[in-house]
Amino acid sequence: MLRSRSADDFDVLFRIADDLATWEERSATSPGPLTREAFKSRLAQGDADDSSQNVRFVVDVDGAAVGSVSLFDFDELARHAEVGIALVPEARGQGIGSAAIAQIVDFAFVRCNLRRVHLQVIESNLGAIRAYEKAGFVVEGRQRQHAWVRGKYEDIVIMGILRSA
Ligand SMILES: CC(C)(COP(=O)(O)OP(=O)(O)OC[C@H]1O[C@@H](n2cnc3c(N)ncnc32)[C@H](O)[C@@H]1OP(=O)(O)O)[C@@H](O)C(=O)NCCC(=O)NCCS
Repeated sequence: MLRSRSADDFDVLFRIADDLATWEERSATSPGPLTREAFKSRLAQGDADDSSQNVRFVVDVDGAAVGSVSLFDFDELARHAEVGIALVPEARGQGIGSAAIAQIVDFAFVRCNLRRVHLQVIESNLGAIRAYEKAGFVVEGRQRQHAWVRGKYEDIVIMGILRSA
């Protein structure tokens, strides 16, 4: 299920954010160590930003937080937003990501009245691309050699899903 964040979720969310092994999969920023304090203030800044319509859910399986999924970069006029997701390593590959993506897309269309949800993924992240395809996303295009990933350039794949009605 998707639910709001509580203070108890901090350790799980920090573990994901500080995971150097999947940094380039999750973020367009330069990789590096992240302190608990820096992550805490990042979360607080996000919470305090009234101007953003960002929707941030914790992904919960049987009462335990296993990741997060968010909508951000809302376009109020054209009715679209970007989605991002990351799970702890032990929760991956069990269908949880696809289910969470399907749920947040439904939330985006039905509750936020969006028409399109889009995302960016590095081309080597085949598991993520498959999970997005399972949730109904299609490849819309690519930014060639746009990402520097552990010693080589990679394309960024742009994927999107349109509301059918
Ligand atoms: C990306 C992520 C959210 C996907 O969630 P998940 O729960 O692992 O994905 P699912 O189990 O729902 O689906 C993964 C699919 O990819 C497939 N897959 C996994 N590795 C693959 C690979 N190397 N090549 C092709 N398919 C692959 C799986 O078999 C599964 O497809 P199937 O159900 O048809 O067998 C999760 O793996 C994650 O958090 N990864 C680290 C952070 C990240 O990459 N975030 C995405 C940023 S764009």
